[in-house]
Amino acid sequence: MLAAVGHCGACQEFDPARVPDDPVALFDEWFCHAVDSGVPEPHAMTLATADAAGRPSARVLILKDVGPDASWHFASSAASRKGRELTANPVAALTFYWPALGRQVRVEGPVLVDPPEVSAADFLARSPTARALATAGTQSAPYTDAAEVTAALAGVRDTDVAPAHWRSYAVHAEAVEFWQSDPDRRHLRLCYRRSPDWTRTLLWP
Ligand SMILES: Cc1cc2nc3c(=O)[nH]c(=O)nc-3n(C[C@H](O)[C@H](O)[C@H](O)COP(=O)(O)O)c2cc1C
Repeated sequence: MLAAVGHCGACQEFDPARVPDDPVALFDEWFCHAVDSGVPEPHAMTLATADAAGRPSARVLILKDVGPDASWHFASSAASRKGRELTANPVAALTFYWPALGRQVRVEGPVLVDPPEVSAADFLARSPTARALATAGTQSAPYTDAAEVTAALAGVRDTDVAPAHWRSYAVHAEAVEFWQSDPDRRHLRLCYRRSPDWTRTLLWP
């Protein structure tokens, strides 16, 4: 089956019969194509988590890396809402959407915390304000006065020591779905599942 995407200038054919055995290789291909096509912020993704009672929440984060072991990495505070949810319920789902290409990628699996040196490297690569915010450790906490934020930031300026709650996390994919839109709505969905080798299945649109 061959899907030629008819609605964008930067089309790339998607033939589910001719894909790599490994979803990381296909993600790489699609991601590079999104970058080459000028998709804005192609590394922005929605992270869905759930609390211990199964109540879901979602927010946009930046993808930091994808490992050859099918791990999708992001960084955040363990003290944030998502961080607390991941401590209570260490599973998550990620969604990428690249509208100009009519493409969506979904990743699901358990979440593990990366080694401290990975978290530290992420922290050091951040801007001074981002580092100060991370150090303040109050992500997702309520505040009433902007002066509270200013004072907290002033107290932790120019730090290059990653706080213990700054984490690099990784979703270790058990399932990765590639979705290619079709102008006729006969969308293509190809799902890779780890069992333990990767198997592929087509899903109805
Ligand atoms: C494009 C974009 C990128 C973002 N990247 C990150 C990120 O890498 N890490 C992070 O903690 N929050 C990031 N945020 C902020 C999150 O969406 C969210 O507001 C914050 O992490 C708090 O979420 P929580 O209260 O559910 O924990 C980003 C937001 C946007 C819109």
